[in-house]
Amino acid sequence: MGRGYLQQMKCNIAIDGPAGAGKSTVARILAERLGYLHVDTGALYRALTLLVLGKGIDPTDESAIAQLFQDAQVDMVLEPGGVKVLLNGEDVTEAIRGPEVSETVSVVAQHPQVREHLLHLQRRLAADGGVVMDGRDIGTVVLPDAQLKIFLTASAEERARRRMKELRSQGHKVTYKDILLSIRARDNLDAERPVAPLRAASDAIPLDTTGKDLDTVVEEIMGYLSSVGRCGGCFTDS
Ligand code: DC
Repeated sequence: MGRGYLQQMKCNIAIDGPAGAGKSTVARILAERLGYLHVDTGALYRALTLLVLGKGIDPTDESAIAQLFQDAQVDMVLEPGGVKVLLNGEDVTEAIRGPEVSETVSVVAQHPQVREHLLHLQRRLAADGGVVMDGRDIGTVVLPDAQLKIFLTASAEERARRRMKELRSQGHKVTYKDILLSIRARDNLDAERPVAPLRAASDAIPLDTTGKDLDTVVEEIMGYLSSVGRCGGCFTDS
């Protein structure tokens, strides 16, 4: 074993992909199975967007938004019912899913100062390992050393159908056509922005979920995990 000994450390798992590919649901189930913390990074961008909308700030005004950081405390806490998103101590887990936030969040997420601000929070949450983190730039920017990286995709039509079901079950009145348009618009914004655009890390495993049910996708990733090493106990040389 040479100098020292092998220290057991939990893996970090990065799941990236476009809106509605199922990242958050898959990440949540994986985290539950592994006893890891699930960090849905889109929720962090959404929480800041909710604040921007609430303050009546123009979402394109980066410097006005940056001013908000002084009094914006975004956090994630693991509670018995799941992970809660807190904005200045207030539970905004439900509020950040509304259509207004969904329409504005890509604009807010484009600003370099917003990304920099949230980068520190995301890295802090993953500092001790044992995190399943989903987003757009996790494998490329936030956690480039994650032990497992998955790039989850699905056709825009399938993603729109899933999102419609989810929103309707929460009581939102939405049409398929509007959701498809909004998903395509967000895909473009996320992929074309100059800072941390949506793209797969070169070492990410691509996984197309079109036509696959959740269990199949989760099992596939669990299979990759076992080949990565002993996840839930990655070994790192100390
Ligand atoms: O996954 P979601 O739909 O909740 O993400 C909301 C928005 O946040 C999405 O339009 C892109 C942005 N986002 C990002 O730019 N980087 C991340 N790591 C996560 C989300």
